[in-house]
Amino acid sequence: MKNQVKELWPELEWIENEELRGKVRKTWELAFSKSDLTPKDLHNIPFTLLVEDCKVSFMDHKRAVVHIAFESAKKMKKFLGTELAIDLDVVVAGAILMDVGKLMEYEKDGDSIKFSKTGELLRHAFTGVSLAQQCDIPDEVCHLIAVHSKEGDCFRRTTEGYIIHHADFMSYLPFKNKS
Ligand SMILES: [Fe+2]
Repeated sequence: MKNQVKELWPELEWIENEELRGKVRKTWELAFSKSDLTPKDLHNIPFTLLVEDCKVSFMDHKRAVVHIAFESAKKMKKFLGTELAIDLDVVVAGAILMDVGKLMEYEKDGDSIKFSKTGELLRHAFTGVSLAQQCDIPDEVCHLIAVHSKEGDCFRRTTEGYIIHHADFMSYLPFKNKS
């Protein structure tokens, strides 16, 4: 599974801290061990069940968010970095892990997916933090999983938290609100 996760997420290599990179990879391995979804499935299933007839795959959406977040963070660091401390490793780790809890939230339903029993009770922001903490992911990164979604609207986001939240929503709401 180690190599499958590395293949799934080439962006892991962007994390400079080797220890953090390993922990992020292990979190995905743990998620797959608890899910009936496989790495291959993530190239076929829709990225969300909240958009009807969604044609964008889970991986295309998740990788888009990682790329948008990383590029945004670099530009913010370049122009605003003297006033805002931005940790690029934290941004990439958080973006890669943001939706890892969806492996608990969804389960297979024939060729498609549906909400699992766990997913009906615990949204992926919660299960994602749980998986990450089991792999010793630092709090700064767990925070990003916790606040990337609407759950974070009632909490104070870090700078990296705002970057990931907006990268996620700018690539989700146009589908959600498409008439
Ligand atoms: Fe999410």
